[in-house]
Amino acid sequence: MRAVDAMIRQRLESDVVLIRQVAEYIIAGGGKRLRPAMLLLAAGATGYGGAHHHELAAVVEFIHTATLLHDDVVDESGLRRGRKTANSEFGNAASVLVGDFLYSRAFQMMLTVDDMRVMAVLAEATNTIAEGEVLQLLNVHNADADEARYLEVVRRKTAKLFEASTRLGAILGGAAPDIEDGLARYGMHVGTAFQLIDDVLDYSGDLNETGKNLGDDLNEGKPTLPLIYAMRQGSPAQAQTVRDAIEQGGRDDFAAVLAAITDTGALDYAREQALREAGAACAAIQNLPNSNYRDSLLQLADFAVNRNH
Ligand code: IPE
Ligand code: IPE
Ligand code: MG
Ligand code: MG
Repeated sequence: MRAVDAMIRQRLESDVVLIRQVAEYIIAGGGKRLRPAMLLLAAGATGYGGAHHHELAAVVEFIHTATLLHDDVVDESGLRRGRKTANSEFGNAASVLVGDFLYSRAFQMMLTVDDMRVMAVLAEATNTIAEGEVLQLLNVHNADADEARYLEVVRRKTAKLFEASTRLGAILGGAAPDIEDGLARYGMHVGTAFQLIDDVLDYSGDLNETGKNLGDDLNEGKPTLPLIYAMRQGSPAQAQTVRDAIEQGGRDDFAAVLAAITDTGALDYAREQALREAGAACAAIQNLPNSNYRDSLLQLADFAVNRNH
């Protein structure tokens, strides 16, 4: 991971000062670097001995960082990684454009691997993420979005990049098709669990641990699973409270919505779904030979659910 970090810094090179400023600002904020870690672990678990894994790990982190820069503009978020978001610090225009820089730099970097399958996986993943974010945009302020619709967004906007990360590791390792597919499914399930918990933490997290403001999702009128479940299981009055909050957005009803969520056990339900996804992730790599890499992947599936940051 140290080598990946060095690669990230090296590849930020640009003679346009603002690009380095904005990109370094968000990257220096830290982040869990989960996607690159999963790529390295999948490569290790499939016996990769070459030198391309650091480059590709940096590629998936660049793509992730680009989506965060864009996401915070779209979501009008003010805090990320414990500091002001790039859009609050440098403005929306700089965030969008530097996000574009990171995206396109990622594509320059992946060329160095010179492998059409790698290109295909990343081309598909980035396109799917964009679809997921647009699909989510269509759901904003829509209190009728159901769990299936929600999950469709989650798989595309978040889980797809996790899937791509583990699949790329397997491709580098020259894994047999069933092993590659298992690792890809593992990534998809962990990514889904990860976003389910992200959406739980948006109502129950601690700002000092998540580094993000609570209530961002409600503010935007985003129908995430805790809200969908509270409307489904709550009393007519509770369902109405949540419905109104989604339709209007804003933070004014946060306390009332949180009460409905708590009362209906909506956060526990979302956590259970995340746990199921993590279980499916672990099952998907049963056929991987035993190794420290595999053990770490199993631990990461657990972390995706039992995390508070
Ligand atoms: C945040 O991802 C965006 C989601 C998919 C929920 P991470 O929680 O992995 O962000 P960092 O990189 O650790 O800040
Ligand atoms: C994740 O969604 C964003 C992407 C996958 C691009 P969120 O909007 O829930 O992520 P946070 O909460 O801002 O990190
Ligand atoms: Mg967001
Ligand atoms: Mg979120």
